[in-house]
Amino acid sequence: MPNTSKPIFIANWKMNLGLKETIELTKKITGDLKSFKGNTDIAICPSFTALAEVSKILKKSKIQLGAQDVFWEEKGAYTSNISAAMLKEIGCKYVIIGHSERRQYLHETDRMVHQKVKCVLEENLIPIICVGETFEERQQGNKDYTIIKQVSGALKGITLLKDQEIIIAYEPVWVIGSGQAVDPKEAEYTNQVIRRTLIDLFFPVEMLGKSIRIIYGGSVDSKVINEFVGEHTVDGVLVGGASLKEKEFVEMIKKIK
Ligand code: PGA
Repeated sequence: MPNTSKPIFIANWKMNLGLKETIELTKKITGDLKSFKGNTDIAICPSFTALAEVSKILKKSKIQLGAQDVFWEEKGAYTSNISAAMLKEIGCKYVIIGHSERRQYLHETDRMVHQKVKCVLEENLIPIICVGETFEERQQGNKDYTIIKQVSGALKGITLLKDQEIIIAYEPVWVIGSGQAVDPKEAEYTNQVIRRTLIDLFFPVEMLGKSIRIIYGGSVDSKVINEFVGEHTVDGVLVGGASLKEKEFVEMIKKIK
């Protein structure tokens, strides 16, 4: 059974760092956290081009490796794509799927997200499924509908085996990179919407505690971390901008004992 009772901190470095910068930042963070004894899971998701090098550095640490995307086929003529088996081979444990930036710029659909989740689980990797409403959807009163649709689209028909794990990241699109996280009460409310959707999809309540973590992402930094993870409002955070700053990311993790 996976141990999902620990909070998780996931750094999403997006397309921000070259190989050299990625190696430098990874070394700094692993160095700072060398003697850290907190009961937390930590993952770093660099660009594809840096996965192999980061994997080597992380081997000596408690930090895990994650990828920012995956393709749903096992192998074949799919120029430019990368399979779940390739990510596993290189040392990944986590894979971000359906990030709003992929949905927006690459027109990733719920169906694609579903296919990716399936192949990631088959390789025994952990999908980090991103869901969240745009500002327009929110203005039109369709926030819950969007969340329910994205969670159902990703997971309908999927059965979780005992040792498999899933992370769902609620990331309101309009908050990402804005410098202002949502009110923690809103993250908590959305967490309930996601939980109810999962129960409707036949994920039993006990599984929600053991195999599924619901986390929050969107302008999280060390100033607000205690309101989210410290208060157990969510099971962890997906961090973009603040994870690119060594001290900021480390401070955030150290604040949660
Ligand atoms: P942010 O990004 O922390 O910079 O808002 C979060 C994300 O997009 O995962």
